[in-house]
Amino acid sequence: METMVNNIAIEKAKTSKIKDVDFDNLSFGSVYTDHMLVCDYKNGEWSAPKIVPYQPITLDPSAKIFHYGQSIFEGMKAYKDEDEKVWLFRPLENFKRLNKSAKRLAIPELPEAYFMEGLTALIQLESDWVPKNPGSSLYIRPFVFASGKGFHASPAGEYKFIIACAPSGAYFSGKVKVLIEQTYSRAANGGVGYAKAGGNYAGQFYPTQLAAEKGYQQVIWTDDNTHEFIEEAGAMNVFVRINDTLLTAPTNDRILDGITRKSILDIAKDEGIQIEVRKVSVHELVEAAKNGSLKEMFGAGTAAVVSPISAFGYEGVDYDLPELTDSYASRLKKRITDIQYNRAEDKFGWRHEVI
Ligand code: PLP
Ligand code: COI
Repeated sequence: METMVNNIAIEKAKTSKIKDVDFDNLSFGSVYTDHMLVCDYKNGEWSAPKIVPYQPITLDPSAKIFHYGQSIFEGMKAYKDEDEKVWLFRPLENFKRLNKSAKRLAIPELPEAYFMEGLTALIQLESDWVPKNPGSSLYIRPFVFASGKGFHASPAGEYKFIIACAPSGAYFSGKVKVLIEQTYSRAANGGVGYAKAGGNYAGQFYPTQLAAEKGYQQVIWTDDNTHEFIEEAGAMNVFVRINDTLLTAPTNDRILDGITRKSILDIAKDEGIQIEVRKVSVHELVEAAKNGSLKEMFGAGTAAVVSPISAFGYEGVDYDLPELTDSYASRLKKRITDIQYNRAEDKFGWRHEVI
């Protein structure tokens, strides 16, 4: 039976899987909630979104997603506070970035109301699934892909927009050891690196597997032209602290414009931390590691939150980062998560109440 709640048709699942979930031992993104949002694009328009029981989708083998990779996604989280209220963090930024990615992949852009109203209704319905344990949250995965048929290499005529959710724990289990990539590239000038396109991740898997064989969990991508400047990691933007200055690469068409990255920059400014948004060369990093001025490196992203880097590998040498007691990473992580979980004043206006 379907009911309408705030413009969204809802077909409820007959039974809930929630009792089977061990909320004390959540991994990242591997169990899914009872419902999902679905919205179809056909005949030149997006139809109104619906919430349906979480279920597999059936596609024609000629669906263009399989052949030409027209697929984009977002990553967001819902957070539960002490009073069981549920919050999103800067959701409009995800909506805007999804449409930026859509445009680059020749996917029709979504109406804001479908995204925001659909997302809100889904998270309200799934609010019991938002974990309360420290460090856990409901990971939200909005995605759009070409469901339309045809082997012709051209944009599909039909698309599906889905939002699926997974109660999740930490993305990394501890500190992250990274390899500075010197051979492969994640993105190129004029390419799709700034979009959250599925293919950007597929292209990283092989070099990341090679790095994993050498004991590194993530690759730090360098510019495709010279491999001299660090850009970002597989699933996060990268920050470096040299002496007391916090450095990060400027975004460009090869780098994902991370919402965590820009929030961290605003918080760091607010903390009175000296910031430089500029190109950071591998040479500078190696020199700083050798002379002791390299104090910290960390990644920042929705899934990764703020993840300290324990060491980086470059040209066969591992450079260890020192253990600091009052690190920028821990200060900035506390500030951002206190806002996300409604434990602190939201002076930037980033929190978005769901229920
Ligand atoms: N860079 C890449 C390649 C990512 O996949 C992510 C994750 O979304 C980020 C950076 C961080 O972006 P955000 O902070 O918006 O999650
Ligand atoms: C996120 O941080 O939400 C991401 O999309 C990264 C993902 C590849 C796990």
